[in-house]
Amino acid sequence: MNLLLVGDIVGRPGRELVRRGLRTLIDAHSIDFVIANAENSAAGFGVTKDIGDTLLEAGIDVMTSGNHIWDKKEVIEYIKGEPRLLRPANYPAGVPGRGSRVAETGDGRAVGVINVMGRIFMSPLDDPFAVALREIESIRHRTRVIIVDFHAEATSEKMAMGWHLDGLVTAIVGTHTHVQTADERILPKGTAYLTDVGMTGPHDSIIGMEVEPSLARFLNGMPAKFEPATGNARLNAVVIEADERTGRATRIARISHSERELDELTKRSARASLPA
Ligand SMILES: [Fe+2]
Ligand SMILES: [Fe+2]
Repeated sequence: MNLLLVGDIVGRPGRELVRRGLRTLIDAHSIDFVIANAENSAAGFGVTKDIGDTLLEAGIDVMTSGNHIWDKKEVIEYIKGEPRLLRPANYPAGVPGRGSRVAETGDGRAVGVINVMGRIFMSPLDDPFAVALREIESIRHRTRVIIVDFHAEATSEKMAMGWHLDGLVTAIVGTHTHVQTADERILPKGTAYLTDVGMTGPHDSIIGMEVEPSLARFLNGMPAKFEPATGNARLNAVVIEADERTGRATRIARISHSERELDELTKRSARASLPA
């Protein structure tokens, strides 16, 4: 089974990349199931029902999130009625929404998705290491294929989670820093690992936002209004191949495509499917 995990979708440029390129990537890599982090899809801050519904229609099976999940107030109602949108599982009991889901591929094979958030340089939520084990325990009788989106800032915390869950899940992929790391590997007990999958959005930016106000905050320390940037949009993602019998990963490969590269891929696959 091939799974695709798409890095944080930022604003309209990120959504446009998904709209233009996701189906092509699904075809090109024979993808059975798509997970995408949607926490920045509404102008960089949160997700709305309209945007979430559009992303699901574009081919995303489960949306994960992180610290920006609550930025748009309407998400509280949306997440209550949309099980395909996850928030980190280690929010305290009683918080709306859910942190894991067992979904199905188009042909009925079960896939587990767990979303947890780190605590280093972030809000002090419940212990993500304990909560991840609890969530795995609660879904592992339904599927061996389990993907964890660990939304965290610190590389050390992410690597620690990788070793903590090695052999218990198919893959642990980091999100939140919006910068793709080059350390993809399969850990000794068969869990695929990547510290951060990166960002699907404008890369001529400071982690997705316009350079000038973001830079100004570092220069003068004053609050500023942030808008998503527009230039150099790239779709960042990772493909994970899973052995369904064991739940182990057999391959992990990073993806980073510009709009032009996605369009060329689309043209090429259209040509390939023409009758000879
Ligand atoms: Fe993000
Ligand atoms: Fe985040």
